[in-house]
Amino acid sequence: MEKLVVEKSMNLRGHIRVSGAKNACLPILAATLLGTEDIILEDVPKLKDVEIMCEVLRALGAEVEDLGGGVVRVNAKNINTYETKYELMSKMRASFLVMGPLLGRMNKAKNSLPGGCTIGARPIDLHLKGFRALGVECEEHYGEDDDGEDSYILAHTENLVGNKVYLDFPSVGATENIMMAAVLAKGRTIIENAAMEPEIVDLSNFLRKLGGNIKGAGTNTIIIDGVEKLYGAKHQIIPDRIEAGTFMVAAAITQGDVIIDNVIPNHLRPVISKLEEAGCQIEEFDESVRVVGPEFLKGIDIKTLPYPGFPTDMQAQFMAMMTQCQGTNTVIETVFENRFMHVDEFRRMGAMISVDDRSATIKGGRKLVGNKVYATDLRCGAALILAGFVAEGQTEVYDIYHIDRGYEDIEAKLKGIGGNIKRVNE
Ligand code: EPU
Repeated sequence: MEKLVVEKSMNLRGHIRVSGAKNACLPILAATLLGTEDIILEDVPKLKDVEIMCEVLRALGAEVEDLGGGVVRVNAKNINTYETKYELMSKMRASFLVMGPLLGRMNKAKNSLPGGCTIGARPIDLHLKGFRALGVECEEHYGEDDDGEDSYILAHTENLVGNKVYLDFPSVGATENIMMAAVLAKGRTIIENAAMEPEIVDLSNFLRKLGGNIKGAGTNTIIIDGVEKLYGAKHQIIPDRIEAGTFMVAAAITQGDVIIDNVIPNHLRPVISKLEEAGCQIEEFDESVRVVGPEFLKGIDIKTLPYPGFPTDMQAQFMAMMTQCQGTNTVIETVFENRFMHVDEFRRMGAMISVDDRSATIKGGRKLVGNKVYATDLRCGAALILAGFVAEGQTEVYDIYHIDRGYEDIEAKLKGIGGNIKRVNE
């Protein structure tokens, strides 16, 4: 079993480079199923989740070739099935994103249901609401059926037809899945209360390169005029704003001075604003940011929201920092109903945190002490590394497969700015 061993590492300094965004890359890989010619993707991060999505594409009959250096070629001309199996679906929720493209290409899709998830129930009702609006019949099969087959959705249509879809919540995944189905539908689809994340804009840019007709991505109304066919394209994945934010907190929490490269500062507005409020100095350049952490961090409050609000994917990392901020700090999590799993892990390191439903109060300025802790999810894992940098003694982070799902080469990158972190195989 692998673990990460982290030692106190103050004053991190130097340059650190951010990889392509996991959450842009996964839907874009799913969307390659819509194309009928070669697609070249650049800045594809080397991550477990990306590997799983590539396996899903291969299982559907697409050619997927790793050309090295973060470049991947996909050709989905000859996809030969509309079914994704439980073995792959259960490994990663995001594999449900192939449903929209399969409906677009084949008018039919059968997907095992994505399994439960530690950060909340994460239903798919909004995805299905969108498909149904486009004229798709979605049969929901729950529990094992007579053939011993697990829960699945069987969706089929004669013809995808554009329509208006109002999302009760601006779900990132539902917006993406509906966009990918609508791009080959007959007529116009309008998604209202759509998610506005930069990853949605990247997906829209990619689909436009393939020949799709989409307007409004990045606002809450996306208009898609269906086309007959999509072709090939070359596309570079946007930088990962959450990885960037994680490194920014690493600088902030260690009184460091770090330049984070391959960043789009505009994607990080709430993160920059909250770090400044905590007393960090931030300098923005075209494609990088410099973060200088203060001697004493000031107390702050955050509330997670859909973009452009404060990202839920940065909540755990900020909580690690808040254990070091003066006074009382609060976190309100509004996106997921159960995203405080990291609290117990921080407590093992000496943090004083109380939780009441969706809000947490963190008593700042506490000395943390290294301990054995568990990455309960990806962002929790990253946050525990950050806490380990300021804790006395050694922090051993277990269950690091979660971290490898979303951070490329994290220990090498952090070592490069002076972090004392190593991977150990027990
Ligand atoms: N929701 C519904 N019904 C649906 C879909 C979502 O009620 O049909 C609810 C969810 O239960 C949740 C909220 O809406 O409470 C937000 O879910 P959303 O659909 O926006 O999230 P997602 O598409 O499942 C993506 C990222 C997550 C990130 C969220 C929110 C990918 C592959 N995943 O998930 O990333 O937290 O958006 O920004 O893009 C991570 O990277 O660590 C991660 C969890």
